[in-house]
Amino acid sequence: MRIGILTSGGDSPGMNAAVRAAVRCGTARGLEMAGIRHGYVGLIAGDVVPLDNRAVGGIIERGGTFLGSARSKEFIEPDGQQHALRSIEAAGLDGLIVVGGNGSLAGARWLQENGVPTVGIPASIDNDIYGSAMAIGVDTALNTVVESLDRIRDTAISHDRAFVVEVMGRESGYIALMGGLAGGAELVLVPEFPETLADVSEYVLSGLRKGKHHSIIVVAEGFTAVGSVQTGKSPGRIISDFLEQTGAIETRLSILGHLQRGGSPSAFDRILASRLGKAAVDILADGESGVMVALTGQELTSVPLSEIARPSENFNSEIYELINEIAN
Ligand code: F6P
Repeated sequence: MRIGILTSGGDSPGMNAAVRAAVRCGTARGLEMAGIRHGYVGLIAGDVVPLDNRAVGGIIERGGTFLGSARSKEFIEPDGQQHALRSIEAAGLDGLIVVGGNGSLAGARWLQENGVPTVGIPASIDNDIYGSAMAIGVDTALNTVVESLDRIRDTAISHDRAFVVEVMGRESGYIALMGGLAGGAELVLVPEFPETLADVSEYVLSGLRKGKHHSIIVVAEGFTAVGSVQTGKSPGRIISDFLEQTGAIETRLSILGHLQRGGSPSAFDRILASRLGKAAVDILADGESGVMVALTGQELTSVPLSEIARPSENFNSEIYELINEIAN
């Protein structure tokens, strides 16, 4: 049996550990393992390289993905999809492991439904994948956010300033929510809970009235202030400009951006990725497919790929309330 593995979509720390585990556990079961470079782009192009145990040495501690990743527009089109099927046949692949987020896993589902035995592994710093309590990379990204917030608080305190910190998450406020809680933010703004700019500034002003001299506001890049006009500015910029205009507190903006995607994976992400890599290869070696392997509680489970288009349940509104309560 020859199994291909690809990493796709936004990279996340721990992808390498997943590939390493899949390759080594696969070869231990007598499988021949192959890597597909740059996700679905490489699949369409037939960019397939053999992977043995030595080829995946020295990568467990490396962020990013040594296989490369991409967001493939071609794979959404029928033409690209047919090319991918032909490449899979030409490379003699009997099964595929797809490591990635929602878009990549939707691609995995398409392949499964079109005759390619496929297993998904959830990897996205957004943690917005249905059926997966923690995706690969989330823990590392959160630690990066928290470390950044700690540094920002130092300077916020020194200068009695408000800081708006914009974090990733176009559709999901998970990073803002959990990063904000762990980083001691006064306020977290997420796509799931719209607020007006007036509410935001009232919140900061009420903090000043309570004797707070600085303020940390974490905003997800997907947040939109209710009633704000489309200016092309990022939500962080809109909020910091608005606060600055009130004249009540000097305000600065910090956009963390792709800092959150890089870096050496945490112990949690390496452990999770290693377990998921093994679980994926075991399923294919046992002649099964069509599922995503995922962490639920402490255990690994299998979620049918046909179900993962459902909305994720990871955003917890009780945490949102908790942040407001603690920030008082
Ligand atoms: O999906 C992961 C993610 O990091 C999102 O949080 C972010 O909105 C997006 O990817 C950025 O994607 P790109 O690196 O393609 O600009």
